Amino acid sequence: MANKKSESKSSAKPGAIAPAKGKLGVMMPGMGAVATTFVAGVEAVRKGISLPIGSLTQMGTIRLGKRTDGRSPKIKKFVPLAGLNDMVFTGWDIFEDDMYAAAKNAGVLETSLLDQIKPFLQSVKPRPAVFDRHYVKKLDGKHVKKGKTKMDLAEQLREDIRDFQKTSKTARQVMIWCGSTEIFLKQSGVHASVKSFEKGLLKNDEQIAPSMIYAYAALMEGVPFANGAPNLTVDLPVMHELSRRNHAPICGKDFKSGQTLMKTVIAPGLKARMLGLDGWFSTNILGNRDGEVLDDPESFKTKEESKLSVLEYILQPDLYPQLYSKFYHKVRINYYPPRADNKESWDNIDIFGWLGYPMQIKLNFLCRDSILAAPIVLDLVLFMDLAKRSQELSGLGVQEWLSLYFKSPMTAPGLYPEHDLFIQTMKLKNTLRHLKGEELITHLGLEYYD
Ligand SMILES: NC(=O)c1ccc[n+]([C@@H]2O[C@H](COP(=O)([O-])OP(=O)(O)OC[C@H]3O[C@@H](n4cnc5c(N)ncnc54)[C@H](O)[C@@H]3O)[C@@H](O)[C@H]2O)c1
Repeated sequence: MANKKSESKSSAKPGAIAPAKGKLGVMMPGMGAVATTFVAGVEAVRKGISLPIGSLTQMGTIRLGKRTDGRSPKIKKFVPLAGLNDMVFTGWDIFEDDMYAAAKNAGVLETSLLDQIKPFLQSVKPRPAVFDRHYVKKLDGKHVKKGKTKMDLAEQLREDIRDFQKTSKTARQVMIWCGSTEIFLKQSGVHASVKSFEKGLLKNDEQIAPSMIYAYAALMEGVPFANGAPNLTVDLPVMHELSRRNHAPICGKDFKSGQTLMKTVIAPGLKARMLGLDGWFSTNILGNRDGEVLDDPESFKTKEESKLSVLEYILQPDLYPQLYSKFYHKVRINYYPPRADNKESWDNIDIFGWLGYPMQIKLNFLCRDSILAAPIVLDLVLFMDLAKRSQELSGLGVQEWLSLYFKSPMTAPGLYPEHDLFIQTMKLKNTLRHLKGEELITHLGLEYYD
């Protein structure tokens, strides 16, 4: 069998990965629906009550070598990931509720499940938050830190991180933003470098939102930071600089959980078969606190930008003007309390085929927002911890290989993001193969016919 034409090709020699020794601390700014569903879920899995469905790190496998080799280990056996039993949790919120009360309030998981792990959930209590209503208009809470300057607040968060490191006896930590969506902000001069950002912190610059203060604190402490909301947060030159300098990986933005997940499955399919698109209308009803926050036009604008970018990048209208240069894309989110976390989305997709004949696709997804988001949080925490321990990845800054999990994947400056779910999956798995010195899989496969 000729090895010249191969389905896989050699990767460069990867650096070492430190073993996942000791406990892993998970720090969550925002202890609402997503965060509590994630933490309660991990505990339920640890206790053998439920299965970690939706989690690639827990259930996924990875093919190695040729299709005929029959080597497909579980991902968690292939790369050294922290075990669920080694995870310890803390967080911050503007409300004082512990994780049991917060999970009951979120109404995602049934009380009968929560009651089986009640003492554990009650033991996870929020630290006072860094919060300012200017950035999330619909919320008001009293459990917040006080400080004269934003730098004071950053120092307090750094102290919280050090305190958690000491008291939890964790060997490593990851911070993941599970807080509310903040108002729409644009990158400006204060975000250009660590120097200008620190000046801005001292001067209480309005362009510095609370999520950025958490990110700054984490990166200063060498802790990786993942961003689950569409806020700019770590998608800024100052954070790229800090991340690389302190070997604290960053990734974001905005968990790709429901409607956008479907969009990034269907759009690549249309493009693969050269079917045209006239319009894509997406609407949602959502009744949880996230829905209430997004009812504010300034927070919605941040979410809208994140949801809209997907189709442009996947369909590449510049390359296919006859198919994709004129499509109309509209995204609406309507706050509708009776549905709570059980979001319902409708998509009407106007497509056209052979000789321009029009057709329609209707999609009605009755999803559960936080049920879809929780396994994303788990995978991100474990993969970000892996990135921190990898000699090769830890100093890179943005972890683009984790694009699979985001609506608006961060990239190196000037690079366009890959939104296609299948490309993203291949990128993630090839990164893992590369890290372990295995051959990359290109799916060429001509050698089977030699
Ligand atoms: N499927 C999903 O649920 C999904 C998908 C993509 C993105 N997201 C994003 O994830 C985030 C969390 O979603 P959720 O459904 O858990 O919302 P949620 O409203 O239930 O929880 C957010 C929590 O963050 C807290 N918070 C707000 N600002 C804070 C601050 N500065 N510091 C500390 N805590 C703060 C709020 O008090 C609230 O408890 C939102 O930004 C949401 O847009 C969720």
